[in-house]
Amino acid sequence: MKSIAVAPAKVILTGEHFVVYGVPALVSAVDIYSKTAVSTRRDTTIVARSSSPRCAISINGEHTRVLEGERNARKMLEPMIRVAQAALNRFGSRNQGLNIRIDSEIPVGVGLGSSAAVAISTIAAVGKLCKRRLYRETIRQLAFGSERLIHKIPSGIDQTISTFGGVIVYQKEKPFRRISPRQIFPIIVGDTGKRRSTGKMVSKVRTLLAERDVFAKRALRSAGIISRSALAALRCGDLKRLGQLMNQNHELLREIEISTTELDRLVSAAREAGAFGAKLTGAGGGGCMIAVASSDCTSSVLQAIGHAGGTPYLARMEHRGVRSWVIN
Ligand code: PMV
Repeated sequence: MKSIAVAPAKVILTGEHFVVYGVPALVSAVDIYSKTAVSTRRDTTIVARSSSPRCAISINGEHTRVLEGERNARKMLEPMIRVAQAALNRFGSRNQGLNIRIDSEIPVGVGLGSSAAVAISTIAAVGKLCKRRLYRETIRQLAFGSERLIHKIPSGIDQTISTFGGVIVYQKEKPFRRISPRQIFPIIVGDTGKRRSTGKMVSKVRTLLAERDVFAKRALRSAGIISRSALAALRCGDLKRLGQLMNQNHELLREIEISTTELDRLVSAAREAGAFGAKLTGAGGGGCMIAVASSDCTSSVLQAIGHAGGTPYLARMEHRGVRSWVIN
């Protein structure tokens, strides 16, 4: 028997980093997916393979063997096997051997929530294989536990959006709120191609905010106002206003020193090509930026991002969260 699960990537429209300190953030799932297929083995070994990046690893008890792609195998697949083991324990099939195949379209380490989406699709596929009724909240909690091992103070935003999908207002330690935007619009994504670690960027911001108390209070207050105003703009379908607020958010992210020359270049190119607004998205330090634009400007914004050295994508909002099914 085999099970399959798919989970979406995300873009943060407003509030990244500040969300770690309790400020609300606005986030949308997008139509780029991680897919995990899981089947049972007759032994107790767990073998995990990924197609992108290409790597493979097997774990049996304490014994780990890299089968392909040394660096990526340890960095990406070891945590995923731990996630699968946590799911097996939770769903009552401890010591079950598994073959896990991960096919993720989500670029790694660029702010689109790749590691959370891969963890979510893996947990959901294992749960489905164990024939358990899968509560989304359980999937989210299991993935959040694993993220905590990777970066110490995650807000939980990536796990939540990839599990539940849609557009949400996320505030730490509060129930998230689903939003119905007045208008569904495409989100233009520009990837600088530069990978970075979310954990390191979160630590850098923590140090900066701790050293500059007065600035920190002002920045957190401004970030809260931006997210709340962006929520109002989304609800009434005012993309122009949303764009202005994204621009303000980008300035705030520059002030906490997480933007880069490449990100600033893509953001300026998008604005000059007529976007309503643009900002970096996710942890910064490289990775992706996003822009919103009217439909007649979309292709020129995509082109401008390409000319400025980025890889452009046109992403659509995805209302579905993780989905799983069984193949006999
Ligand atoms: O891992 P990324 O780049 O998707 O960033 C996650 C968002 C942060 O606010 C930077 C961290 C967090 O845990 O909320």
